[in-house]
Amino acid sequence: PRVAVVFGGRSSEHGISVVTAGAVLKAIDRTKYDVLPIGITQDGRWALTADEPERMAIVDRRQPSVDLLAESDEGGVILPVDPANREVVYSEPGSVPKALGEVDVVFPVLHGPYGEDGTLQGLLELSGVPYVGSGVLASAVGQDKEYMKRVFTSFGLKVGPYLVIRPREWQQDEPAARKKIVDFAGEHGWPLFVKPARAGSSIGITKADDLSGLDEAIAEAQRHDPKILVEAALRGREIECGVLEFEDGPRASVPAEIPSPEEHAYYDFEAKYIDSTPGIVPAPLTPEETAQVQRLAVDAFEAASCEGLVRADFFLTEDGEFVINEINTMPGFTPISMYPKMWQESGVSYPELVDRLVQAALR
Ligand code: DAL
Ligand code: MG
Repeated sequence: PRVAVVFGGRSSEHGISVVTAGAVLKAIDRTKYDVLPIGITQDGRWALTADEPERMAIVDRRQPSVDLLAESDEGGVILPVDPANREVVYSEPGSVPKALGEVDVVFPVLHGPYGEDGTLQGLLELSGVPYVGSGVLASAVGQDKEYMKRVFTSFGLKVGPYLVIRPREWQQDEPAARKKIVDFAGEHGWPLFVKPARAGSSIGITKADDLSGLDEAIAEAQRHDPKILVEAALRGREIECGVLEFEDGPRASVPAEIPSPEEHAYYDFEAKYIDSTPGIVPAPLTPEETAQVQRLAVDAFEAASCEGLVRADFFLTEDGEFVINEINTMPGFTPISMYPKMWQESGVSYPELVDRLVQAALR
């Protein structure tokens, strides 16, 4: 089969996607699949690149970008472009290359808006091309932290206290919206986490310790999404669990624990990708806790009608209760990322994981 690996994209998680794509392209079985790597630049141009391993560029690990593919030869990420030849064919911004319709399956290794949120999935549905991962609805639900929580709640999964401030609400009466947040803090206490509703990798999230930090936190979240979410801090341990669709249905991986990083206010972007805080796999939980979080992870997968894969993130509170924080329908997938590490520990290697995902999409 011919597989298009689509990566990069217009979201703020562009760089993470590029790092993942490098790893997926290395791991995918070339004897089984014909691979077409397609990069999407930050401004939405699709870059068709030749898939010849000897013509791979290495780009800066700290700033991986499709736009840099043809320019950089520093750092540590392998990507499919020859900087000398610069044989990258760009489409017009927003227009999709025809080659996308000529593949058997698309692997959208994309995070965030315009990739993980159902928009690309809709395009692929219209084109009649099978693709890895969740469909339009599950992707959209998994991208929007408000609707994600609403869906989980309606399926009986426990979520933490939160408040949504919609764009119109903010535009029409900013003082009233700010008061709602302050009242929420009065009820649940500081600190508050202020988040863009639709973003990922902790981008745009600020931990506001008190009133003095609130305005800046709101402004920062709104830079990424006009709809913002305010969450109460949950005391507890951060536990993640991977779900993968097998022939007979979804199964959960061994869970992992993310130790709270000392130098960071929380598990933020730097901790995730720059310092690469190691997660503990498997998480040191009791067998009962492990079974419980695995069941909840599969419940979350089913609640949002996910397909292929999901990483479900929980807090294990001091009361011994698992509260779901979020799911990611296309979780970080670099070799140091938790999703592949949890599956590795569960007996599914990185190449096998990639293969299973493509196979599930072709079924
Ligand atoms: N959104 C990032 C990629 C993650 O959750 O892994
Ligand atoms: Mg996320």
